Amino acid sequence: MAVAAVLGLVVLSARVAWSGWVDPQTPLWARATTAIETGFAHTLVFSDEFEVEGRSFADGDDPRWTAVDKNDYTNMALHYYHADHVRTTNGVLNITTDYAPTTFESAEDEEGFVQFKTRRKPFSSGLVQGWNKFCFTGGIVEIVARLPGKATVGGLWPAMWLLGAMARATYVASTDWMWPWSYNTCDRERQYTQEINACEPSPHYGLRPNTGRGAPEIDILEAMPGVGTLNYGLEKPYWSTSYQVAPGKLHDRPVEGKRPNPGQWYEDGLRYGGNTSINAFFYGEELKHFTKRETYVADALSANTHIDDTHFTNFHTYRLEWEVEPDREALRWYLDGDFIYEILPRSLDFTGAKMPDEPMHILLNTAVSSTWGFPLPWEQPPGCDSSKKCYDCGSQKCACQLPVGFCEMLPAHYEIDSVRVYQRLDEKSHKIGCSTDTHPTRRFIEGHVDRYFDPYNGENKPLHPVKAGGARCRSSATCGDGTCVSGRCRCSPTATGPECKAFVAFNDISYEEPWRLRLSTPFVPPMLRTAVLAFLVLTAGIVAFRISAQRKARSASLIASSPALPTPSNNPPPKVEPKKPASPKKRKAAEPPAIKRKKTTGVNHESVVYETNKGKLVQALLRRWWYAIDWPSKEARSKVPEENFEVLSGFPGVHVCTSGPRLGELVDHRDHDAAPSFVNLYAKPAKELKELVATAFESQINQLKNHEPDSPMIPGLQKEMKGAAKINADKADVEARKAFAEYQKNTQGRR
Ligand SMILES: *[C@@H]1O[C@H](CO)[C@@H](O)[C@H](O)[C@H]1NC(C)=O
Ligand SMILES: *[C@@H]1O[C@H](CO)[C@@H](O)[C@H](O)[C@H]1NC(C)=O
Repeated sequence: MAVAAVLGLVVLSARVAWSGWVDPQTPLWARATTAIETGFAHTLVFSDEFEVEGRSFADGDDPRWTAVDKNDYTNMALHYYHADHVRTTNGVLNITTDYAPTTFESAEDEEGFVQFKTRRKPFSSGLVQGWNKFCFTGGIVEIVARLPGKATVGGLWPAMWLLGAMARATYVASTDWMWPWSYNTCDRERQYTQEINACEPSPHYGLRPNTGRGAPEIDILEAMPGVGTLNYGLEKPYWSTSYQVAPGKLHDRPVEGKRPNPGQWYEDGLRYGGNTSINAFFYGEELKHFTKRETYVADALSANTHIDDTHFTNFHTYRLEWEVEPDREALRWYLDGDFIYEILPRSLDFTGAKMPDEPMHILLNTAVSSTWGFPLPWEQPPGCDSSKKCYDCGSQKCACQLPVGFCEMLPAHYEIDSVRVYQRLDEKSHKIGCSTDTHPTRRFIEGHVDRYFDPYNGENKPLHPVKAGGARCRSSATCGDGTCVSGRCRCSPTATGPECKAFVAFNDISYEEPWRLRLSTPFVPPMLRTAVLAFLVLTAGIVAFRISAQRKARSASLIASSPALPTPSNNPPPKVEPKKPASPKKRKAAEPPAIKRKKTTGVNHESVVYETNKGKLVQALLRRWWYAIDWPSKEARSKVPEENFEVLSGFPGVHVCTSGPRLGELVDHRDHDAAPSFVNLYAKPAKELKELVATAFESQINQLKNHEPDSPMIPGLQKEMKGAAKINADKADVEARKAFAEYQKNTQGRR
């Protein structure tokens, strides 16, 4: 009773003021704001003032943000994101971009097999994201920041933006068919390009039936420094404010660099501020996929505003008012309180897309890309060879392709003084949380967890739990809001992070179903699973055999029956290509390299092993081993059955008793240590596997050619054979060992 009363009180007070994400160092005057257009009172629900010196945002270090530590595979990036390029210094979040080349092994998709290629990115930079930490639906975001570099030098691409909870930036597998959908109509033509679409009557993962979902993007700011005047008088530097949304307009799109013709683009329901005009340099993009059916278009409703030097020398306030209340929906951008751009729902009647209503998280980053403010070939200095696109400060040849003054300007620092989010506490549609009652995401993300981390980047889960204390220390000075106890930081109750430098943060309200005690289902290791299956199958076989044998014994005519058993007999017809096991679907996406996602249901620990190059070699071999491996051995096959036994049909090397007291008993002469099972094959060195796979493909293709010279299967087999041949055996062995260790680690304690 008392507990319920206390809980009721907590819930009640939570309605009065949500404070779980508020930085206690936010000054009182900044704890409320009024919407500029509507006058509604808003209360602070999230803030970060970055006042504590030396915070780190690496995975596991901070409850609000994660600084990614990985290559950026998007937008022709020339940078690699390092977590240590994001720190707090002198009261700001300090994102540093520098000329600091990173060489790394990039996992790339080659005809369904992973190839490791050594790649080099000349620049290092930083990206923090609130993904799966702080998300909100509706409200006002206000960011006070100073942009990096110089107003007149192009090349840097600083941004502050919002992205739907179901996509994680730079993890390309999470954005395919998800970004930037905001569409709730069942449209058979588009069904294959929006993963969670309104045509699905019974979706899994707690999603609502017939409800389209996605991860739209709102850009609060993307700044383009540099000099010069573009078409129709847009002067650099400028910044763009955008809503990026799918579905996009498929046909008759405006030409980039030109204003749209009347009726050709979104018009009605858009309003531009005094110094702002339509962004005619970016109308969106096509997301190319393997097949046309899976390819789609994303539109950018975007505006450009000229800015001056002071944005790079002083702090300015960038503000987005995002109203989700039904019948009031709107997006409005402001700069230091001045109106910039507005999008109202009726503008989207053009395509049928929706205003954003997904839970969104905040991102802050600086990118470097040849597509953003770089000189075009004819703008490069005379004698610069633009054919080799190397963009590198380290050599004269490559530096001339960079914007003038770019290398000299580095390192550059993007400084964010504060990030604050306000909501109307009396408005039900304003919510906090990445998974809400109307827009659940948690179970979907858990069920597709492999899209949100990169195992080829040494990651084994999307986010590690935030460590509270534990960092090594000599004195309490290291430990933020904590003390140094026996050489380790111990945090006060309000602090977290290894060095206790972050304020604790939490959702005041959970929209999730109440927590339930869940007994984890018993785990069966795959080997045992196979053994159990084999046992069941054999038992069934024996029973069937006994019955038929008894029947036959009675009728005294012994014709060998062949119980239906799944293992392949020694000579299956060459035409049969069994359905591929759970190997990832091969898909080419718009984004370069990155490994494409695999569709899986639930967390599947074995998949780590299956999806290594070695695992794939084994799977390729298991589908055609009889072309390359002589098993069972000749010796086993030629064993003469004992009295009353005969060879079990379809199982050379196995004898079965057909009469007498031992009726139904099996004697297996086959060598099981050499059997072509996943486990046995996986134990072989990759070099040997490659040879076996090559032999198997070769003889399968040859047999096919003999029997069916123009079989449509041949080119596919040849392609797969080529993919397998390209695998680097040494690297595959290393990867396989790692994956197996990972598998063992993940399944520990579950047996
Ligand atoms: C940002 O960090 C750099 C060093 O990485 C430092 O030189 C600069 O002063 C910092 N900016 C602020 C405002 O502290
Ligand atoms: C446009 O920009 C100029 C100079 O940057 C500024 O003085 C003026 O107030 C701006 N106009 C509007 C409507 O924001």
